Amino acid sequence: MGRFENVATLARPFAGAVALDLACGSGRTTRALLAADPRTVHAVDVGSTLDDDLLLDGRVRAHIADLDDLPLDDGTADVAVSLNAVEHLADAGAHLSEVHRVLRRGGTAVLAHSDWDTALFTSDDDALTRTLLDRFVAHAPAGGSPTDGFAGRKLLRHAARSAFTVESVHSWADPHRRFDEGSVAWKVATGVLAAVADEPQLAARAAGWIEGLRRSAAAGEFLFTVTDVAVVLRKD
Ligand SMILES: C[S@@+](CC[C@H](N)C(=O)[O-])C[C@H]1O[C@@H](n2cnc3c(N)ncnc32)[C@H](O)[C@@H]1O
Repeated sequence: MGRFENVATLARPFAGAVALDLACGSGRTTRALLAADPRTVHAVDVGSTLDDDLLLDGRVRAHIADLDDLPLDDGTADVAVSLNAVEHLADAGAHLSEVHRVLRRGGTAVLAHSDWDTALFTSDDDALTRTLLDRFVAHAPAGGSPTDGFAGRKLLRHAARSAFTVESVHSWADPHRRFDEGSVAWKVATGVLAAVADEPQLAARAAGWIEGLRRSAAAGEFLFTVTDVAVVLRKD
């Protein structure tokens, strides 16, 4: 199972459930939640991001809304997943309060995040990889939402300060061997390039680093992983 199936499974969706995919993006978690045949998946994002086929699925309701002000009534959801959202939020506590409000008693929420500082790339130059990753996790894109390369390891802290009971904590790393355009490793490497764009010398070395990753993937030697953390929360 990959990241999206893992978080959906931990939320324990069931046939007929009302499920939430919070910060749904293109809807990869929504897709995984649908495998349990819920009555509805409310897919919430601040942007209009959901894939077209999910918009056409009668079980999916798309909402354009902020995660600290969910367009749902109190106690109306059975399960909720928030994946790779908190690094974009000014107040993770306000987000968790909202999730707690809209869940029914006994409902489950999964708060999950990749911890980007743990990203692993097979490369010929390990020292350069470390330098580039350090820049990547410290990088706040100009005009973009805040990011936190250490968000995964902080989830339990957010959970402990919320009204939820922490049921369990999980962590895993998915191995990815592809480095073609659109692959997960490619997207992270693109973020690395953006992070060093203002440093011409390092940017040139990063371009060479990416060529090295390409060669390594072509030779079948490439590996990328990042640690994901998921906290399973229960509303008592
Ligand atoms: C890194 S993406 C994760 C998407 C999806 N959960 C996934 O893992 O594929 C972060 C998402 O959070 C959304 N987002 C950022 N800030 C938000 C906010 N305040 N309220 C709702 N969504 C937000 C973005 O639009 C984006 O789709």
